[in-house]
Amino acid sequence: MLRISVLRLLGRPGTSGVSLLEYISSRYYSSGPLGARDDARDARAVFTTPIFYVNAAPHIGHLYSALLADALCRHRRLRVPSAAATRFSTGTDEHGLKIQQAAASAGLAPTELCDRVSAQFQQLFREAGISSTDFIRTTEARHRIAVQHFWGLLKARGLLYKGLYEGWYCASEECFLPEAKVTRQSDSSGDSCYVSLESGHPVSWTKEENYIFRLSQFREPLQRWLRGDPQAITPEPFLRAVLQWLEEELPDLSVSRKSSHLHWGIPVPGDDSQTIYVWLDALVNYLTVIGYPNAEFKSWWPTTSHIIGKDILKFHAIYWPALLLGAGMSPPHRIYVHSHWTVCGQKMSKSLGNVVDPRTCLDRYTVDGFRYFLLRQGVPNWDCDYYDEKVVKLLDSELADALGGLLNRCTAKRINPSGTYPVFCTTCFPSEPGLVGPSVRAQAEDYALVNAVATLPRQVADHYDNFQIYKALEAVSSCVRQTNSFVQRHAPWRLNWESPVDAPWLGTVLHVALECLRVFGTLLQPVTPSLADKLLSRLGVSATERGLGELCFLPRFYGHPCPFEGRRLGPETGLLFPRLDQSRAWLVKAHRT
Ligand code: MSP
Repeated sequence: MLRISVLRLLGRPGTSGVSLLEYISSRYYSSGPLGARDDARDARAVFTTPIFYVNAAPHIGHLYSALLADALCRHRRLRVPSAAATRFSTGTDEHGLKIQQAAASAGLAPTELCDRVSAQFQQLFREAGISSTDFIRTTEARHRIAVQHFWGLLKARGLLYKGLYEGWYCASEECFLPEAKVTRQSDSSGDSCYVSLESGHPVSWTKEENYIFRLSQFREPLQRWLRGDPQAITPEPFLRAVLQWLEEELPDLSVSRKSSHLHWGIPVPGDDSQTIYVWLDALVNYLTVIGYPNAEFKSWWPTTSHIIGKDILKFHAIYWPALLLGAGMSPPHRIYVHSHWTVCGQKMSKSLGNVVDPRTCLDRYTVDGFRYFLLRQGVPNWDCDYYDEKVVKLLDSELADALGGLLNRCTAKRINPSGTYPVFCTTCFPSEPGLVGPSVRAQAEDYALVNAVATLPRQVADHYDNFQIYKALEAVSSCVRQTNSFVQRHAPWRLNWESPVDAPWLGTVLHVALECLRVFGTLLQPVTPSLADKLLSRLGVSATERGLGELCFLPRFYGHPCPFEGRRLGPETGLLFPRLDQSRAWLVKAHRT
């Protein structure tokens, strides 16, 4: 990206001889900050979540997958505001043996189970503010048409053949497992059974005549793709894992099951005795949502970024790109991979009874609070552990005390009686550090704060690009702390508006702090949309001033007009984020248990 490389050439202020003023000017006033031009090169983008199995109700891990995609998508919309440029799909994966069996054991028809659980996902995502533009269900007619068309292409290209396929099949993971990944175990009644080594789920020996995809032909093309585009799989350890798999043998893949065994799925075109493998069916959803097989899909593929959990990496990074290459298409633009949530150190599972209900959490911690927690604490590279006290501690310290406290300090009637964005005084805070004079009040740490907040939007954008949203939030949080120290250092409550000596500096301190808050509010929109709205509204920032293209931090610092100066603040609407650790009966209960 051209602008990134320009910034890299410039280096950081203080390390390359470039003055702070030049540095910030180059960043904000030459071509605008992180605006539309920044991403014009690929104006269209599609974000996808995995489609969720409907065998059980959603849990926090599912919500986490969807939130990561939502935050990426919302951040991009702040960069490229054109509504038509960004699509975001999610949905439910409704076919296959797993669902067929779950429906049978619940005594329901598969469609009944699918309708019920798919509705739960839709409701959860609505409540959690997932801003998807499409929700796909694989039982829809548009999807059957897409899958059968895709199948026809593979067939016509000679990539499917019929053959005897045998091996251990794990219905829970919906895949064949090699002998080395299976172990023998005694069940509760002492009978021996075979289970998947990794998940512990039962497997059964299957021997059938199926359609088989010539996956083995794609080992080298896949290696070439990944070597040529090492950013394709992020974070890097997951890329390494895929390259390692590609060093090993890549056997052909069974892509259908006998309908007598698996009836709940899409029939193979022209052969009703076979049902299409659920993973092939499910992966094609990413094409269905962009209109495939109608020609319109071509203007959206391959601009797609898939957000997935580590357990489904092989399906997305090997099978899916190979199927796409087989059908004459490019692999996806990006595959962003995240790790899992455990609960009090244990894997979340129905049998352990430790599944955390995301709706209870949204209720307890508020939508913005819980979104912030999952995205601030979720580290893609490693599994993360969930427990209630951790949520309370984080939200109280970062949202209620640090951010809410800062807003309160700058807007409270006592300190800001006129209820306006005060004037910035360039004599008190000259743009060149180190100047001395009777009216100069700014200190070295204040310049460090300006530098930190000025470079924050780019830092945050880089973290989003690297799928490290938690680092973006960490960077914001650190700047919030720095701003609180700035306010603490200059103690505006000890300065007097009536004094001609104090007043310009008092106004400047509040102006700088409000500018910092405006940056934080803008950057938090993808993660805490309502809280950010409340914050920006309180500052009097209008809806058209909230994009990254409009985010010109502290323009008065180097002589540009500031549209906010003198503006009335928005109405006071109560605490930004009330503390959680008081008056919450459920928390007392959680402490006791
Ligand atoms: N249906 C397949 C995906 C097909 S996509 C073409 C599937 N569904 S799932 O419901 O089992 O998982 C959906 C997503 O939730 C996956 O990204 C998975 O990694 C994620 N999670 C499931 N459990 C999780 C945690 N405990 N923690 C974080 N994410 C987890 O796989």
